[in-house]
Amino acid sequence: MEPTGKVVSIHGATIVGETNSAQTFSVGSYVSVILEESKLLGVITSLELASEERIRFTANLFGKFSGGRYSRGTEELPYPGAPIEVPEDSELDLIFNTHRRYDFALGEISLLKGKRNYMDPDRFFSRHVSVVGATGSGKSCAVATILQKVAKLPGARIILLDLHDEYSEAFGDLAEKVNIGDFELPYWTMNFDELVETFIDPDDPAAKSEAVVMSEILLNSKRSKNVAYKDSLTIDSPVYFDLSDIKVKMQALDTERLPNGKEGPFYGSFTRFLFKFDTKVNDKRFEFLFKPKKFKTTETFSQFLELLFGLKSGKSLVVLNLSNVPPEVINAIASLLSRLVFDFNMWNKYRANLPILLVLEEAHNYLNTRNSSQTARRTIERVVKEGRKYGVSVMIVSQRPLDIAESIMSQCTNFVVMRLSNPDDQAYIGKLVPESMVDLLDIIPALKQGEALLIGDACILPVRTKLDAPDPFPKSKDVDFYTKWSILPPAVDLDNVVERWRKISY
Ligand SMILES: Nc1ncnc2c1ncn2[C@@H]1O[C@H](COP(=O)(O)OP(=O)(O)O)[C@@H](O)[C@H]1O
Ligand SMILES: [Mg+2]
Repeated sequence: MEPTGKVVSIHGATIVGETNSAQTFSVGSYVSVILEESKLLGVITSLELASEERIRFTANLFGKFSGGRYSRGTEELPYPGAPIEVPEDSELDLIFNTHRRYDFALGEISLLKGKRNYMDPDRFFSRHVSVVGATGSGKSCAVATILQKVAKLPGARIILLDLHDEYSEAFGDLAEKVNIGDFELPYWTMNFDELVETFIDPDDPAAKSEAVVMSEILLNSKRSKNVAYKDSLTIDSPVYFDLSDIKVKMQALDTERLPNGKEGPFYGSFTRFLFKFDTKVNDKRFEFLFKPKKFKTTETFSQFLELLFGLKSGKSLVVLNLSNVPPEVINAIASLLSRLVFDFNMWNKYRANLPILLVLEEAHNYLNTRNSSQTARRTIERVVKEGRKYGVSVMIVSQRPLDIAESIMSQCTNFVVMRLSNPDDQAYIGKLVPESMVDLLDIIPALKQGEALLIGDACILPVRTKLDAPDPFPKSKDVDFYTKWSILPPAVDLDNVVERWRKISY
């Protein structure tokens, strides 16, 4: 092929080049720089008019062709004046077919019609993934597409935290659906942090002493109810304890009088705590947590895990529908569920054969750094830091990446970046991806619905990709106001609304 341009200057792995055949170049398209024994591959990041006929462009270099092979990295750099051409189709095939043997592609390369963007699925799933994009950019569809491609594998193990009941029909028979709320999550499976989160208001002046006293009561209650495990029990052990022990003992301290008639050290300190405790424990919405009927003994813990994680049904995907979980406890529940997945594999001797993917949809809801409550954040931080050791990988899905702590996001090595219009979010993603790829992020606000920039370890190149449509689609939570308003609605059943409202029944 005739050279169509030449290198003008070089800055690290970025080159500035010139061409007079602008039609063949666009942002995101590929160029190759011809050297003596190899060719370097670059992606164009910007274009400008240099003179009447000449176009100046910058491109980042990502890899090289030599001896009929493509490899990542460019230890060799070009010299000013080196000729530039548009890579041949066979060369592009060579690149994008690098991982073809796995037959795992999320879609078609946007700028190269008909070419699939094959990725290395081992690298994609075994290192944490982040799916980010504005509302409506296509994140939930992307998650459905990704999971539909792997849920059919016989040994796949995926747990999806579905905050808005979007996925109940997205996987057909491949998924087990668990409606948290109907399904009991007994309080005694919570660790100490989660119980504190649930019962103690951090703004209560007595919060610290409440936590100390509660920890003593808990440990004693766990010990007295589980004599067989007495020596190994900790405050976090998943064994039964009696919730009313907390109330009885704290009430006693709150009203304690010493033998000399003076008030005890905690006299009156826990009144506020006890009032809130009672309100919560007796709230009908929290029955699934505080009034377990099925899982009432330490011995039921295995059965609980078996049902929660769909181990009996053998389905590869478990959709944990959290749409009925009251917002007051969503942090604690997200923490509890994620931790159970992690702890389960940590204690599983055969975990190497049972790698689990934990998908956290709408993660900013419970991982928000600005929340006063940090339980879920601390748990997920631990899962992303140590998860790989125990065969647990995390997929974090969020419309507001900036709200998710860098300590979590920086552990992700693969990114599915969809349209993001907020410049702060874009800048944040820029901090998380390798520096050579930052320039490519300029394209993010212009991505179409369902289109993503796939960046990371699993991709041979960062590539703008039209993601395959999921089949079936997840249920979008958006209500089409205009469409709904355009037809006459059925009459409102006011009695039903009031009844449900009063009985707190969704
Ligand atoms: N890959 C895709 N193929 C076809 N349509 C898509 C795709 N991704 C998104 N859409 C469309 O965009 C809408 C919003 O997508 P959704 O995944 O719910 O966005 P988000 O989760 O980012 O808010 C979907 O209802 C669907 O109509
Ligand atoms: Mg969504």
